[in-house]
Amino acid sequence: MREIMVKTPSMTSTIYIGEDVIAKRLPVLASGQTNFVVTDENVYALYGEWLRAKFPKTEFFILPSGEEHKNFSSLQTILEKMTQAGLRRTARLFAVGGGVVGDIGGLAASLYMRGISYVQIPTTLLAQVDSSVGGKTAVDLNGVKNVVGAFYQPCEVWIDPTFLKTLPEREIKCGVGEIVKYAALNAEILRLIEENTERICDLGFLTTLVEECVRHKAKVVEIDEKETGERKSLNVGHTTGHAIELTSGLSHGESVLYGMLFETRMAVRAGVCDRAHGERVIQLVEKALALAPCSKPDFSKIETDAEKARSDKKNTENGEIMMAVAQDLGAWTLFSMPLESYKSALAQAVKDGR
Ligand code: NAD
Ligand code: GLY
Repeated sequence: MREIMVKTPSMTSTIYIGEDVIAKRLPVLASGQTNFVVTDENVYALYGEWLRAKFPKTEFFILPSGEEHKNFSSLQTILEKMTQAGLRRTARLFAVGGGVVGDIGGLAASLYMRGISYVQIPTTLLAQVDSSVGGKTAVDLNGVKNVVGAFYQPCEVWIDPTFLKTLPEREIKCGVGEIVKYAALNAEILRLIEENTERICDLGFLTTLVEECVRHKAKVVEIDEKETGERKSLNVGHTTGHAIELTSGLSHGESVLYGMLFETRMAVRAGVCDRAHGERVIQLVEKALALAPCSKPDFSKIETDAEKARSDKKNTENGEIMMAVAQDLGAWTLFSMPLESYKSALAQAVKDGR
């Protein structure tokens, strides 16, 4: 079991990675006290019996699966169940699932009695590599992604790679989407992935990548927990990605891959991103997109995506659309343009791929 600490002004979280993590940490954090488990229906179908044995005499909340349930109404139901279970401030919440469960579970923990302790147990590649770390919690509202949320750090994150064995190919691809983001920002991760492309779905190699990405994210979060500066780098591909996610029905990871593809092309064209670096990133994105089939969105309706990008407040400054761009090895910058220019640059970036 490996340990990575994330020290922020609000709290020190410890991330444990390894197949023995649950056996080792569960007795320390879950025994002899009241717990509450949030999971989703797919995870419960696969792991429910095992979870019930690990968390005896514990209330479970089983969320229907999918981004559309990461909303206020589900949040309210979770909080009601926590109240009905009579949880006190000393209780601990365990969010066992992908990014949806982690985001809504973490937000419920932050709100219940003004904040109770919680543990992230990520079961998707995307959640292991990114969303379980760093304390961003949220739900979507009125078609805007993550618009209601809190920075609220888990006390611990338990990353057990064996969960990935039951993950469908498409979900592996989604996690690879966030891994490519780290590769665009971190020379060592880029080298690792380029030299081992044929091993990209291999569990052992994925575990190495998860650890490298988590180490990168932990450093960034320590520098800038509340995303006032350095943490914005982790939004590479996300401005356009979130817009695509809201308009296409693609998953978060797939949308981020398309977001990275288009934003990198825009940044290369504008001279903001080094051409050779941009091409390396684009190659990785294309390989990742080919990992599993998904419906190709109709990018001809690009104006809708552009409008949605504007509705994502954190991506907008002075009415301009803001993107985080990996410029070159180890260098990133913010890159913004007025909505009309963004619309035409995005349309051009889509065309460039044909
Ligand atoms: P998800 O939580 O919807 O999980 C994807 C699918 O995999 C679901 O159907 C789920 O039931 C299933 N699943 C989960 N674990 C499984 C397992 N071990 N075996 C088989 N199936 C399993 O989606 P996701 O891709 O994990 O996360 C996406 C969400 O994460 C989005 O809401 C996104 O906004 C959020 N996110 C948050 C952060 C953050 O920093 N908080 C970062 C990135 C993404
Ligand atoms: N996923 C981006 C962040 O946590 O900041």
